[in-house]
Amino acid sequence: MNKLLQSIEDIVRGAGALMREAFNAPDRPAYSLKGRQDYLTETDGAVERYVRAQIEKHFPGEAVLGEEDGGDVSATRLWIVDPIDGTANFARQMPHFCISLGLLVDGQLEAGAIYAPMADELFIAQRGQGAWCNGKRMQVSPVAKMSESSIEVGWSARQPASVFMDYVQHAMDAGCSVRRAGSGALGLAYVAAGRSEAYVEGHINAWDVAAGLLLVTEAGGHVNNFWTANAVSQGNAVLATNAALAKEISVLTGVDLRT
Ligand code: IPD
Repeated sequence: MNKLLQSIEDIVRGAGALMREAFNAPDRPAYSLKGRQDYLTETDGAVERYVRAQIEKHFPGEAVLGEEDGGDVSATRLWIVDPIDGTANFARQMPHFCISLGLLVDGQLEAGAIYAPMADELFIAQRGQGAWCNGKRMQVSPVAKMSESSIEVGWSARQPASVFMDYVQHAMDAGCSVRRAGSGALGLAYVAAGRSEAYVEGHINAWDVAAGLLLVTEAGGHVNNFWTANAVSQGNAVLATNAALAKEISVLTGVDLRT
């Protein structure tokens, strides 16, 4: 493994250890709400501070955008971190959460990793080099029938319920099984790992997808053109699919895939 990926792996594993320790502590994690259904725990802030310090150590002077403390979105070389993706799960003591760390250079993802500490799963990728889960090369699923497929539909209170409901309705009408597991980053990692055929959400933030989109394309899947003008600061819609069902799922969701 090269130095860039080794550093990324070390950073996300260190962050994961902090999360695991907090999750396993005898007391339930204290949480507050940033808004409706938008959870925040002390661990989110602690993990982001850790990741920022590690990036400064490994890559001195490079810019960081984090979910909790923001950052300079205009930097051409930008580390994008979600300290805990799936915070609601973490706060409610469900083990499906992760850290996501991606490197965006001139609007293009260069490298990234997602680490799910409770499952001890590391998903990592570098542009043009491939994507791996715990050392094993990932490949999107070969499933080519909607009636055999699983699609994860993300939801947040940032959008009207009808956006979510329409995706669910169209996917179920087409014969898909539908999930919502509460971590967009892991939702994308699971498409890359062939565990789902697609992940779709009407609006998601840059820190939720800055590693996952690269995992999917490096595993042979398709993604939408997420990084449009304001996506780093404002977020965007996201769609990621396997190759075999890409066209059908793009039509079903109404989200164009990158060609
Ligand atoms: C949220 C999760 C959720 C997705 C939301 C995100 P958070 O991030 O990824 O699955 O549907 O769009 O905001 O709050 O857990 O970091």
